[in-house]
Amino acid sequence: MTTATGHPTELLLDHHQRAKIAKAYDSPSWWYDVRGFFILTFTYRATLWEQLRLFAGCLGREHLEVAIGSGTLFAMILKRARRLGCAPERVVGFDYAERMLAGAVHRFAGDRAVELGLGDATRMRFADASFDSVAVANALHCIPDAAAALREMQRVLRPGGRLAANVLLHPRGGWPWRPLAERINRWGQAKGILDRPYAEDEIRGLVLAAGFRIERAWVSGNAWNVVAVKPG
Ligand SMILES: C[S@@+](CC[C@H](N)C(=O)[O-])C[C@H]1O[C@@H](n2cnc3c(N)ncnc32)[C@H](O)[C@@H]1O
Repeated sequence: MTTATGHPTELLLDHHQRAKIAKAYDSPSWWYDVRGFFILTFTYRATLWEQLRLFAGCLGREHLEVAIGSGTLFAMILKRARRLGCAPERVVGFDYAERMLAGAVHRFAGDRAVELGLGDATRMRFADASFDSVAVANALHCIPDAAAALREMQRVLRPGGRLAANVLLHPRGGWPWRPLAERINRWGQAKGILDRPYAEDEIRGLVLAAGFRIERAWVSGNAWNVVAVKPG
């Protein structure tokens, strides 16, 4: 793992915002992984396999991983892409929670293709058209200004570059799945790790408004999955 030139190693956030993030992500990153497995199963109602297929299939030569978290999921994605022979030559990943990023830094130590740092998805420090692909896994609904984050992702992509994302929808289904997911979502919002779930039309509208063309989009469980392209 290396530190990129021009990489956001410093957050443009005030003291109050930093304290709020530190409080929301106050657990060690291994605990986030255990908790994340339950959230994946009961709130997204998705499987790891679905996520690996979506994200490992959408990596370009220079890839940006937004809100990489502890890096556990991205490590699996990268491993799969390397096995399939379609891995990026260069990966830049960032997160705004120091505790989460520490997990990723530990996980990718020694991997020279991966550059990590602190950064805010709504105010990226990368030049326009810097990457061939951008992904935001399990995180767009955690960002209060998702529209700004999408505009930034569009800006830093090269024309023809791809975005892959999954977004939490309002829980569906009957008892016990819907009340269970609603309860976990309320807990996540109170803790500060979930901004809010979306309606499918609303999140599709935000992706289009950011300037993307949607290539594929589908619902699985309580998640909207999308592969979108920056028009070239
Ligand atoms: C549910 S986790 C997902 C992490 C990882 N992508 C995964 O799938 O395991 C959401 C992540 O979004 C990060 N995050 C939320 N808002 C952010 C922002 N504005 N900029 C950067 N990271 C952000 C959080 O710190 C957290 O690590």
